[in-house]
Amino acid sequence: MSADLGFIHRWEPGTSERTLLLLHGTGGDEHDLLELGRSLDPAANLLSPRGKVLEHGAPRFFRRLALGVFDEADLVARTHELADFVGVAGAHYGFDPGLVVAVGFSNGANIAASALLLRPELLSGAALLRAMVPLTPTQLPDLAGREVLVAAGLADHLVPPDGSKRLAEMLERAGATVKVHWSPSGHFLDGGDIGAARDWLAGRAKAA
Ligand code: MLT
Repeated sequence: MSADLGFIHRWEPGTSERTLLLLHGTGGDEHDLLELGRSLDPAANLLSPRGKVLEHGAPRFFRRLALGVFDEADLVARTHELADFVGVAGAHYGFDPGLVVAVGFSNGANIAASALLLRPELLSGAALLRAMVPLTPTQLPDLAGREVLVAAGLADHLVPPDGSKRLAEMLERAGATVKVHWSPSGHFLDGGDIGAARDWLAGRAKAA
């Protein structure tokens, strides 16, 4: 195993048992969401990998065939690869694998949603910022006890609001406790999204 544990990543230890798995959007990297993660939960450990797929040089977490059309076989393989990395990183850095919450934006939110569907044991929760249904599993997993925030933009043309709504409904059918935050914005996050994510995380930390 190479020193990067399988993914180029940043690890910023916190002062609590909680870990945020930060998953950037298309064209981002492992540095992108560190500041956001620290502002969302100042005490959490931050684990921030860089997506391995390059689309015209822009890092992503899985291949797409066109805007919003995903290479499902690649998505499935990359989801398992990412989930395995989190396990390896947990053993390496010594964080509690039961207290990992994903904070994903756009492409990062989509792979976090895929992880909820394909590796339901991986995350205790996820803040999915501008996500859509990444795939439809043959059988819905049991997500009872998992908490999810779906933050969607009413004016989002990349991830249309209906996609976020259908994702929230799918996760709810799987048993997750889902909160949906609607922003008047487009694809990019606004202060309301950040506030909603911060409040949602703070609520979870208090309940833990
Ligand atoms: C995706 O490809 O995951 C979505 O279209 C969001 C994005 O543009 O990255």
